[in-house]
Amino acid sequence: MSRATDNTQSGDTSDGRSRTLQLTVPEMDCPSCAGKVTKSVEKLDGIEELDPQPTTGALTVTFDPLNTDEEMVLDRVEKAGYDVQRPTEEATPRKQGFVPALGYRILTPLYDPILHITLREKKWKSATVERLSLEDGEVLDLGCGTGTLTVEIAQHYPDTAVHGIDIDPAMLAIARDKIMKDYQHVQLVRGTVTDLPYPDDHFDSVISSLVFHHLTTDQKLVTMSEVQRVLRPGGEFHLIDWGRPASRLQRASFYIIQLLDGFDTTSDNIDGKHPVFLDQSGFKEETNPEIVRTPLGTIRIHRVTKP
Ligand SMILES: C[S@@+](CC[C@H](N)C(=O)[O-])C[C@H]1O[C@@H](n2cnc3c(N)ncnc32)[C@H](O)[C@@H]1O
Repeated sequence: MSRATDNTQSGDTSDGRSRTLQLTVPEMDCPSCAGKVTKSVEKLDGIEELDPQPTTGALTVTFDPLNTDEEMVLDRVEKAGYDVQRPTEEATPRKQGFVPALGYRILTPLYDPILHITLREKKWKSATVERLSLEDGEVLDLGCGTGTLTVEIAQHYPDTAVHGIDIDPAMLAIARDKIMKDYQHVQLVRGTVTDLPYPDDHFDSVISSLVFHHLTTDQKLVTMSEVQRVLRPGGEFHLIDWGRPASRLQRASFYIIQLLDGFDTTSDNIDGKHPVFLDQSGFKEETNPEIVRTPLGTIRIHRVTKP
């Protein structure tokens, strides 16, 4: 198999939800090759339109991001026997506008063990999941990353439709491995938290763990207004992230996170801005946030409602 020479691009179509992916598959240079590729990609749920051009090797795929994503389309083209070039080194996460987990792409495979050792995450993630008190309905894990929390929710609430969204395909690939085999009621989507591909007044709960310190101030505010939009009235938003440090030592230990993830997106956390932003975004916080002291700083768990 040879490698394709072009890269992928995606963009919104007119209904605001569909995504269009433009690929070049140079060896798809005959009608039967195009047929093989089309048949393979059509197996995915959510494919809305396929336009293969054997003369140029161009392949345009329009799909519903709630059902499939770029990685799955690329995978299906490769399963038909044709290679597609992955995003080049140029398309680093920061150039695509997001800070990867642990700051550097190279650390992504180590994310789960590092979090397990440094943050003892199981304890506070499980406690937060228990507090969701969902019977059925729908819940969204915002910035689901490798899906640790998503799995915890899916196990705890087998009758609830669980959704996860994350911008980083490398994190989502790890999440898919954990989830796809065992949990039919989980749906993962690649997308940004600043432009959620879900309808208004939809979710009973939205939960977000360790994502807001990856967002600029503007992105935090836009994301909160997106959460307001997709939550049903009375729905709950559980925001878990680093917040105002509980002591000087806790402040000092947070420098490790700031060195990894950057100072731009983390200074609101240390300045205790989350409750202010939540209030500005129209959420009501009736209980004090829970405080979790970790070796890397103070995590605060806010539980707020949409009036
Ligand atoms: C530190 S990880 C947390 C992952 C997971 N929620 C957890 O608790 O383990 C932060 C995640 O936020 C995601 N992220 C950063 N910016 C994002 C954006 N604009 N939209 C969606 N996800 C984003 C990253 O890709 C990463 O997976």
